[in-house]
Amino acid sequence: MRKKIVAGNWKMNKTMSEAELLLTEIADALDDVELDNAEVVICPPALYLEMATDVAEEANFYVGAQNVYPEDSGAFTGEISPMMLKNMKVAYCIIGHSERRKYFSESNEFLMCKVDGLLKNNVRPIFCCGEVLPEREAGRHFAVVKQQVEESLFHLGQDPFAKVVIAYEPVWAIGTGVTASKEQAQEMHAFIRQLIGEKYGAEVAGNTTILYGGSCNGKNARELFSQPDVDGGLIGGASLKPDEFMQIITSL
Ligand code: PGA
Repeated sequence: MRKKIVAGNWKMNKTMSEAELLLTEIADALDDVELDNAEVVICPPALYLEMATDVAEEANFYVGAQNVYPEDSGAFTGEISPMMLKNMKVAYCIIGHSERRKYFSESNEFLMCKVDGLLKNNVRPIFCCGEVLPEREAGRHFAVVKQQVEESLFHLGQDPFAKVVIAYEPVWAIGTGVTASKEQAQEMHAFIRQLIGEKYGAEVAGNTTILYGGSCNGKNARELFSQPDVDGGLIGGASLKPDEFMQIITSL
């Protein structure tokens, strides 16, 4: 049975002391929660990854990075490698987030290299895909997501692919307060699962965790997560508020 996941993407937020407080608040709150076939992943800024993995050792969450460079080492000033993440006991890494696609011009092809670098080091990619508003309005959302998934992931063999988590994040829903309806989320998740099924077979498709992201909050999480192909969420703004983040987790 596929795992359910709630992952918190802190983006570029929190001072060191605020981050420490938030990590301990989440760790304490998770002590009182029974997670059934589910995982919580916290993705803080890179500077706080070590602190997060220290807290995670005694807590019921995994740590994810928000970005990575594909190579293991070398002259890539300012970058962090998959090998370094593995070394720091970072279990997951978000890639292909729409903010990175937009502000850092990350292409499907470059993301393919990141996927390979992560999997080589046993760090699980949380691969984000999703259309911008004009693409949805033009009825191109399925084609856009298909291309993103195919060009960055479908070179993988079945075993490495099985380690990938997918996050469908319609860009028009990210940070806007406009959430996709449960029907919109479900139909895209079912579409992605169908693509996976055609490429890797029904078993792999059935075991792939597909998260929804985009203005998911304490109020709408339960409805979104109740959809048959929605296996949890990638949470931005609401992951910075411990009470609301816990409400989302307990909506799984
Ligand atoms: P949001 O962000 O929950 O603040 O909309 C989601 C994301 O960017 O992953």
